[in-house]
Amino acid sequence: ADQCVLTGSWTNDLGSNMTIMAVNNNGEFAGTFHTAVMTTTKEIKASPLVGIQHIKTQPTFGFTVNWNFTDSTTVFTGQCFVDEHGKETLKTMWLLRSHVDSIKDDWKATMVGTNNFTRLHTHLE
Ligand code: BTN
Repeated sequence: ADQCVLTGSWTNDLGSNMTIMAVNNNGEFAGTFHTAVMTTTKEIKASPLVGIQHIKTQPTFGFTVNWNFTDSTTVFTGQCFVDEHGKETLKTMWLLRSHVDSIKDDWKATMVGTNNFTRLHTHLE
């Protein structure tokens, strides 16, 4: 398969957008995540993410989003795939940790789900 590149702008099945900046030689990257949905009623702002990937053609990766409009954190893990037409898809799962006031509420503080991402703007070679 061709190289699957995380750098660039992506949109997922919820309509959220993210931009990943350059990946360094250690596979580390940073970016911003603009979610289309949220668990609270706040004003959504673009939030920072940091992550790391393997250096290979269809890499696995993980990144953390530190939401800057609320006290929750999401971690994503997934793999970057390229199909026979060169179209890239990120298949991910996420855990969303909400802030709770007491350890008694810990049991209800984590959500899990999946997201598929495709490129927002076609990658120009
Ligand atoms: C919050 O509601 O506490 C912060 C925003 C969480 C957005 C979640 S992260 C997993 C899922 N995928 C998205 O694109 N948005 C939601």
